[in-house]
Amino acid sequence: MDELTVSVLGAGYVGLTTAALLACAGATVYLLDPNEQRLKTVANGKSFFYEQGLDALLGRAVKNGRLRTATHYQEAIPLSDIVISAVGTPDNPDGSSNLNYVFAAANEAARLLKPPAIYVQKSTVPVGTGAKIIQLFEAANLTNAYVSNPEFLREGTAIQDSLWFDRVVVGGADSDALARVTDLYKQLEGQRQQLAELAGITPPSGTHEAQYVAVNLESAELIKVVSNAFLALKISFANSIALLADKVGADIVQVMDTVGMDRRIGGAFLRAGRGYGGGCFPKDVSGLLAAGLEQGVELEIMRAAQTLNESMPGYIIEKLQQALGGSLEGKKVSLLGLAFKAGTSDTRRSPGITMANLLVKAKATVVAYDPAVADEARPALHDAARIASTIEEALKDAEAVVVATDWPEFLSYPPEKFVEQLSGSVFLDTMNCFDGTAMTTAGMRYIGIGRN
Ligand code: NAD
Ligand code: UGA
Repeated sequence: MDELTVSVLGAGYVGLTTAALLACAGATVYLLDPNEQRLKTVANGKSFFYEQGLDALLGRAVKNGRLRTATHYQEAIPLSDIVISAVGTPDNPDGSSNLNYVFAAANEAARLLKPPAIYVQKSTVPVGTGAKIIQLFEAANLTNAYVSNPEFLREGTAIQDSLWFDRVVVGGADSDALARVTDLYKQLEGQRQQLAELAGITPPSGTHEAQYVAVNLESAELIKVVSNAFLALKISFANSIALLADKVGADIVQVMDTVGMDRRIGGAFLRAGRGYGGGCFPKDVSGLLAAGLEQGVELEIMRAAQTLNESMPGYIIEKLQQALGGSLEGKKVSLLGLAFKAGTSDTRRSPGITMANLLVKAKATVVAYDPAVADEARPALHDAARIASTIEEALKDAEAVVVATDWPEFLSYPPEKFVEQLSGSVFLDTMNCFDGTAMTTAGMRYIGIGRN
């Protein structure tokens, strides 16, 4: 990769991971973002969020000069062989995808891109977006420069996912351009052991064969959104069955684990609980719904998944209210987990924060704790919810504990220590990730979701 110059647009979760890996693999990488604060942190070899192994890669890449930061496209795009767009695609208030950043980036790059450079779209965009960008590129006399290359990494395992990927999808009309993107991944694949070692992460066990899939633009765009939508659907399906399990006395964990043993179904993403959050599933489901409606297609199944997901935090807080005698007013509740899942400091659409806010609304006194999150939670978290700096501080004298995220620190916390710290005994496991029997034996009143 030594000969390659790459510009990465957007220093977010995807852009930063991509830039760090490519730079450590030998490319010269320019990381562009209008957010100077983020770039300043990167220029010091650090990430603005917690992701295992990322700081080690950034530290190396900045130190050896392979990773450079820039705020102006002019500094980097004309020098680049490949420009990768990883700018944000949040949702609009109506749920549709906000493509302002995507088009602003493409517009500016189109003015500066020097053929035969290619423009690779990693941001998740609704089907039809690439075709519009191609029109814009053609108006700037750039032909065959656009490739859709959706990203499938998960936060918390971003580096591992980027090195041991299941599939690489490239979409577009020009086979040379597609081959150049594919080659980038083949080179990463070839160096993955060294890169993992540098990051200090453990490679996944077992054999791992990546699939390389070349399709047309529209299919590539749809593959990405549909992958997320299907995973979200699996979670909502499990949650809908959990509601039934709660009524009939079945254990949703045993039910879904066993259903998932059927290889045609698969066990992944069937964990019932407080529902999915994060910067992607909620907005990608609503974006797919909006894209469908634009074409006159009502994706009712996804609407149902979304509605159920949004109802789960309320269902859970209602359960807690019942367990605490019908009212939460004045009750001290400890909420563990403000990140939207373990392994990250990302709090976007965090179910933990939603539940904390519902507790405040019900007049409970909330003390929250997360091993990787403090100030990041503040904008979305109700002012009345306090953030503790240790698990003990959060648990101290609480009448109930609500575990919202399966952080290892929570899972390995001895059951008897929960008992020791709390003044009450209600233990609400909103991710069904604890051994209910062990908690009960220790003296807690264990409540799961769909496993009463
Ligand atoms: P993010 O919000 O963390 O980062 C986006 C960055 O883009 C911000 O730093 C912002 O300042 C920057 N930006 C905005 N306009 C810009 C411009 N014109 N030029 C350069 N930078 C600009 O977003 P993210 O979570 O990294 O997601 C990026 C895209 O990747 C989204 O489309 C998302 O759906 C998709 N995606 C995200 C993940 C994930 O795990 N976060 C995984 C797969 C795909
Ligand atoms: C997800 C996808 O897994 C990635 O493949 C994709 O690239 C990414 O979205 C994206 O497009 O941004 P991520 O949001 O990092 O990755 O997190 P996941 O591990 O998928 O979890 C999403 C949410 O679902 C979390 O809140 C998690 O706790 C929840 N979840 C997950 C469940 O409630 N049950 C499960 O069984 C699995």
